[in-house]
Amino acid sequence: MEKLRDALDKARAVRGGTAPAARPRGPAPLRGRTAATDAAWADLAAFAPDPKLLAKNRVVTLDPGREATPFDILRTKTLLQMRRNGWRRLGITSPGPACGKTTTAANLCLSLARQVELRTILMEMDLRRPALSKLLGRKPEIDIGEMLMGEVPFARQALRVRDNLAISMSARPHRDPARYMLSAETEQTLDAVEAEYRPDLVVFDLPPLLVSDDTRAFIGKVDCVLMVVRAEQSSMAQIDACEREISEHTNVLGMVLSHARFADTEGYYDYDYG
Ligand SMILES: Nc1ncnc2c1ncn2[C@@H]1O[C@H](COP(=O)(O)OP(=O)(O)O)[C@@H](O)[C@H]1O
Ligand SMILES: [Mg+2]
Repeated sequence: MEKLRDALDKARAVRGGTAPAARPRGPAPLRGRTAATDAAWADLAAFAPDPKLLAKNRVVTLDPGREATPFDILRTKTLLQMRRNGWRRLGITSPGPACGKTTTAANLCLSLARQVELRTILMEMDLRRPALSKLLGRKPEIDIGEMLMGEVPFARQALRVRDNLAISMSARPHRDPARYMLSAETEQTLDAVEAEYRPDLVVFDLPPLLVSDDTRAFIGKVDCVLMVVRAEQSSMAQIDACEREISEHTNVLGMVLSHARFADTEGYYDYDYG
């Protein structure tokens, strides 16, 4: 990670800047639980993922332990920075495909779910290559697209893991995700879901940034973005381009190094917060 950090600093210097400055864009606060929000959460269909399947799919944060620790640190750092800035929506993206976005999103959200005072919503927005339902072992009856377009309420589409994590998944791959990602209906739905469920965090598992326009179109709607980069695959030029692109639209929260064979610590992941 040290090498990666040095190389990124060099790339930033070449393009004439330091790390991109965070642009404050705090959403309206939605704090506080009411009987109505409690009832709304309780009404979501509950789902308990199989721990063995999760472990097979590298999701290691259902319970505390050595393997969960790196994600618990990521959770704490993320929470601190988001709270400090009054941010609620977190996007997770990467330069290219198969960098570990979905695995990171699932691990981070299950780690967040172990904090009982927090409520988190995870939305699967990598609609061309949905992977969450396979990862978690449960196909949703209704696709997230129908919910985003306001055709089906969140209450009927999302599943609840434990008491405090709601997951909205895609039931099938989409050929035209921009339709959902760019629409005014999606914007309205996200606002309405946040108003009704009052999550502390909404995490979006996004498509890769440099592959299509889907993510560029969407990241202006989130408060900050975590970039997952894959060891021995994501090039420095890609990482730099991705960071620059994110910072044009929103705040770069930090970077997660995935697939590192020789980690500094014993976990799978390493982080760099901007
Ligand atoms: N830290 C990691 N170390 C090794 N393999 C990983 C790691 N994170 C994810 N993977 C594996 O890499 C593949 C792609 O991960 P995924 O999270 O689906 O990527 P993305 O969502 O970016 O396409 C999956 O097979 C996943 O199990
Ligand atoms: Mg994915």
